[in-house]
Amino acid sequence: MTDLIDVRRDLHRHPELGRLERRTTSVLADHLTAAGLSPKVLAGGTGLVCDVGTEGPLVALRADIDALPLQDEKDVPYRSTVDGVCHACGHDVHTTVVLGAGLELAKRELPGRVRLVFQHAEEQMPGGALDVLAEGHLEGVQAIFGLHCDPALEVGRIGLKAGPITAAADAVEVRLTGPGGHTSRPHNTVDLVHALATVATGLPDALSRLVDPRAGMCLVWGKVSAGNARNAIPREGVLEGTLRVLDKAAWQQAPDLVERLVQGLVAPYGARAVVSYERGVPPVVNDPSATTLLGAAVRTALGEAALVPTLQSLGGEDFAWYLDHVPGAMARLGVRPPGAERPLDLHQPLFDVDESAIAVGVRVMVEAALAALGAVL
Ligand code: NI
Repeated sequence: MTDLIDVRRDLHRHPELGRLERRTTSVLADHLTAAGLSPKVLAGGTGLVCDVGTEGPLVALRADIDALPLQDEKDVPYRSTVDGVCHACGHDVHTTVVLGAGLELAKRELPGRVRLVFQHAEEQMPGGALDVLAEGHLEGVQAIFGLHCDPALEVGRIGLKAGPITAAADAVEVRLTGPGGHTSRPHNTVDLVHALATVATGLPDALSRLVDPRAGMCLVWGKVSAGNARNAIPREGVLEGTLRVLDKAAWQQAPDLVERLVQGLVAPYGARAVVSYERGVPPVVNDPSATTLLGAAVRTALGEAALVPTLQSLGGEDFAWYLDHVPGAMARLGVRPPGAERPLDLHQPLFDVDESAIAVGVRVMVEAALAALGAVL
């Protein structure tokens, strides 16, 4: 029998960055094949999908398999052996949970099929979810479920909410150009720094008045550059920042709105503005029915007290792309050891989990898959 804690520790020792997860993919393929299943590796050579069951309705369980470019600073026997790479977001746990659920489901007579989706490159932009979709692996899937580690939640608990549970994060760059000139004669040219500063402050201001404040849209510049000399008006200036938003409808409108506002703000000065708006991920928006089903599965698997409400986070998660196509829900898996007062956050070099969360996650995913198959029959 596969010891899931050994699997998790093996993955933890050998973390791989997005689109480089070859060893992880082959370890998973070996476990699945040994259980009599037929995994299919994705076209890029990392990530895989594997169906349990041969006919009937189809539901999916998704795990992400990639690690982060961070140094592992833990002093544990299963510490990362790869310099500068670490499973600091718990994707090793998600992967082990979905593997465990698949192996458990493979022992049963199923009223349908469960597709295990081991997705690569969640931490990257664009994320691996888009590859899974492009390869058609969600076609015919009637519901999809996933878990993400939550270090704020005690092990044994599952956090869940209907509607948005993560946020959108996009990259915005505004590039202004003009003829340049002498600072003594701004009226004869385009005062580019002035125009840039107008956009730097005016754009976030205008967004705060034109977008519903409840959408939580927040544009923050992280980099501003223009000019070389105090008495020369430069020919080019650039602003770079991130736009985060809690609401999906507002996210959809953001690129057009940003473009229109930038052009309006620079028009009086005559600067030429080019806006590059790079989509990151939309918010994960949990489907209400799928959330109810997942919540019921949590209560069946773990008891009434295990299910707790959770808040929308400002983090991004590419599970969101699946929910554009298929109803589903993502829950938060408690990984905080009982009694630990100040848990480490995700993406910190000392982040670790209480490994009993793995068995908890497996029970929830098995129950969710069975309940979903029952519901779509
Ligand atoms: Ni993550």
